[in-house]
Formats: sequence, structure tokens, C-alpha cells
Amino acid sequence: MASLTVRKLDDALKASLRLRAARNGRSVEDEVRMILRDAAEAPAAAPPALPTAPPVPAARPQYGDRAGAGRPRVTLIIGGGIAAYKALDLIRRLKDRGLHVRCVMTRAAQQFVAPLTAGALADERCYTDLFDPQSEFDAGHIRLARDTDLIVIAPATADLMAKMAQGHADDLATAILLATNRPVLLAPAMNPLMWANAATKRNVAQLIRDGVHVIGPNSGEMAEANEAGVGRMSEPLEIAAAADALLRPPQARPLAGTTILVTAGPTHEPIDPVRYIANRSSGKQGFAIAAAAAQAGAEVTLVSGPVDLADPPGVRVIRVESARDMLAQVETMLPVNIAIFAAAVADWRVANAGEQKIKKTAQGMPQLALVENPDILATVSKLTHNRPLLVIGFAAETEHLIDNATAKLRRKGCDWIVANDVSPATGVMGGDRNTVHVLTRDHEDVAIDSWPVMTKDEVATALVAKIAAATGHPPA
Ligand SMILES: Cc1cc2nc3c(=O)[nH]c(=O)nc-3n(C[C@H](O)[C@H](O)[C@H](O)COP(=O)(O)O)c2cc1C
Repeated sequence: MASLTVRKLDDALKASLRLRAARNGRSVEDEVRMILRDAAEAPAAAPPALPTAPPVPAARPQYGDRAGAGRPRVTLIIGGGIAAYKALDLIRRLKDRGLHVRCVMTRAAQQFVAPLTAGALADERCYTDLFDPQSEFDAGHIRLARDTDLIVIAPATADLMAKMAQGHADDLATAILLATNRPVLLAPAMNPLMWANAATKRNVAQLIRDGVHVIGPNSGEMAEANEAGVGRMSEPLEIAAAADALLRPPQARPLAGTTILVTAGPTHEPIDPVRYIANRSSGKQGFAIAAAAAQAGAEVTLVSGPVDLADPPGVRVIRVESARDMLAQVETMLPVNIAIFAAAVADWRVANAGEQKIKKTAQGMPQLALVENPDILATVSKLTHNRPLLVIGFAAETEHLIDNATAKLRRKGCDWIVANDVSPATGVMGGDRNTVHVLTRDHEDVAIDSWPVMTKDEVATALVAKIAAATGHPPA
């Protein structure tokens, strides 16, 4: 009888076998035996599906060079509302995203901001007149309508939307809008009563039916004194992000339907109500992983220690302080399919933390007794009920990186360890770059995947791609 050397299989297949074995409560060898036996007993049946897809990073497609070649073009139509001044900031925000911006202003818009300003910010003259011979020669309304990848209208006034809904074309902006076959994004801005008016509602509903995209309006204070409500134009950053999203091809969502729990950041262990023990973790790597997993379609919960980072888009974020708080939150989030423990959890806490601020006394220094914190990674890895299918830990080491990480993988009972050298010279703690080695269990052995130095976002994308390949979710 021929023997099969599991070590000779490729990494993705080995990882799949490991997951499958864990799911069925068998060793990898027993799992392989079962697969072979099933195949031998049922020759007509299809072989068991083992995912072998290679990791494909779900990287954001890059736009062309900043000089203009290959950059998507946005035509920004500025309507005649008070929020027209914000359109000037929007030009900059769109350019920040590598987009080429061309401006068109209605006659009313020119009462609020000067075409010269918009043109200077966009690096191209601002178009205003349907019957301007120079415009007709230069571009013409038909060319302006087509020679773009997206049209953004900000602010979209009630009047401009009414004209669009009716198909008017009596000025340059409306003629372009009627002649275009490109996507259109509206950012309405008006007084709350204008927004709530039945005519406006009808027009907006019609435009949405016609396939126009709408962002906002937000709720907030109006330019008019003592007026507040829904009608405030979305912020330029929000509009630029929405425009960018419309211009990018749909992303692969290989982790759709997967629940993922991520921990990030340091923990703070109180000494008294005002002091604590902490570490230098910034949370950037864990936040980047949560963001990449969400972008890959997973339903992500991020349990984070105290960090100064904004919530990643599409991620549910739970903020905690101490290791014990973190474990409690992690336990309430189970079951999940995958758990990634990137937090730098304090190993110890102060046993005799003061309930009041500890004061200097003549009796000398306070004696702080340390006790061990719960081990979140080991606790979850060793669960017999509700254990995630894949448990990934992080090893932050300052010496003997691979040896220490290998020992940690074995000791904690997790499936993978992401090892990184956090010696001060590497600048990893708090920095934007990371060099990691991904250790995966290979039965008795440990397989090591060493990645080059990358940004933390790139590490996150590559890790998510590896997870997708290992769990049988090849990119769509
Ligand atoms: C000071 C001032 C502020 C205005 N702000 C708005 C506004 O925020 N939203 C809106 O829909 N109309 C607003 N209007 C009314 C529009 O300027 C008017 O309906 C105009 O015809 C719209 O032109 P457009 O179709 O070129 O955008 C405002 C008018 C004035 C005088």
C-alpha cells in the first residue's frame, strides 16, 4: 500500500485538511484516511471538495499617475445653493483621491462662488455657458457629458433636481445631464422644508428610479439662523468617498458569510483610578485586519483596547480597557467562524489596585503586587464548545522570534501565529510597516511563511487572502 506524505502537499491544501480535520474532531492523517476510504467505497461519487485556491490579495486597484494619464475623470456640477462653497473643498478631496476634476457651474452657483476659484482649484477652466463659443469649440456640452467617468452634482439644489427629473436642458449643466450616459451622483442641499416638500420628494424618487445615485442630505444646522433639520449637504470627504466607490470596480468578497472576531490594541491595567500599566501597541495592525476582512465581505467584530483610531468602515467596534474586559467581550461574541487575536494583552495586572488615587506617603513606595491576566488566545484555542474553526494569534517578540513564536503556537493551541519582531529598532510598535512570519501547524511540524516588509494594510490584505484560501473561500 502506497503511503502519502502530507508534507508534500501545497500549503493551501494542508491548511484545508487541517481545518476539515479540526471540524470533524480527527487527526489530519485520520481525515486523509477517511477521504481516501470514502473515495474508494464510492467510486462514482465526486471526490470531496478541498479548496486549493491560492491567496489572491484583494488589493485596491491603483489609479494612474498624478499627471493625469489613467486617472478617472469627474465632472463636478456646482448648483446654486449656499453649500456651493463646500464644493470648493470637494474639488480638493476628489483630487486627493487621484481623480481628475472638471467643474461646471450653473448661473445661480456663480452668485455664491466664482468660476475662477473652482477653475484654479481644479487646474482647468470652469465651464458655465451652454452657448459659449469657446466651450462649444473646446469641449461642447456633448463632449463634457461623455468625456468623464462620473458626474457629481454638489450642491444639488431643489431646482436643479426638478429640472433633471423633468428632462430640461436649458443651460450647460442640465444639457450635460441629459446628454450623459455616465453614472451621476447627487449631493442634495437645501432648507429642511424644501427637502420635505412633496415636489422635491417626487423628484428625488424619480431620479433614483432613473438610476441616479444620491448621498445625503445629512441632518444638522442650516446656514440660516435658528434652522436645523435634514437638508445639510454631506461633507466633502463623504461625497469624495462615495464618488471613489462608484468609480472602482466591485471588489471580490471571498469572505462573504463568514463571521470574524478581531482583537486589537493594548490593554490598560489599572493601578488606581488615574494610573495604569499599558504597552506601546497602537492597534493599527488589528484595525487594518478588521478593515481588510470587512472589505472581503466578512461580518467583523473588533474588540479593541484603548487606541486613537477611527472605527474601520463596516466593522462593529467594541472598545474595552483591561484584559479581563476584553476576554468578557470576546466570550460574548462567540461562536464565530474565525478569531484573530492581534491585541497586545497585558500579561499581568495589579492585584491590589487602589480604589482611590494612591498618595505619596512618608512610609515609602507603594508595593504593587502583580497577578497573571487571563490568557485570551489560549482560552479560546482550547475551547471544546464554540471553538472558532480557525484561531490566529500574534506573537510580538524582541528576540528569538521564530523559536518563541513556534513555542507559543504549540503552548496556546491556536492554529496560526503571526510573528513580528517588535524590537524598538524595527519601529513596528506604533509604526505603519510590519515584517511578519505566518506560522501554521503542519501536523507535528510548523510551516513558516515569511513575508517581506509591508505596510500594515498590506499585511492585513495578505493575511485575509491567506485565510480565504485556507478556509475554502476563493475570491469571487
Ligand atoms: C442665499 C440663497 C441661498 C440659497 N440656498 C439654496 C439651497 O441651499 N438649496 C436650494 O435648493 N436652493 C437654494 N437657493 C435657491 C436657489 O438659488 C434657486 O432655486 C436657484 O434657481 C437654483 O439654481 P440652480 O438650479 O442653478 O441650482 C438659495 C437662494 C438664495 C438667494
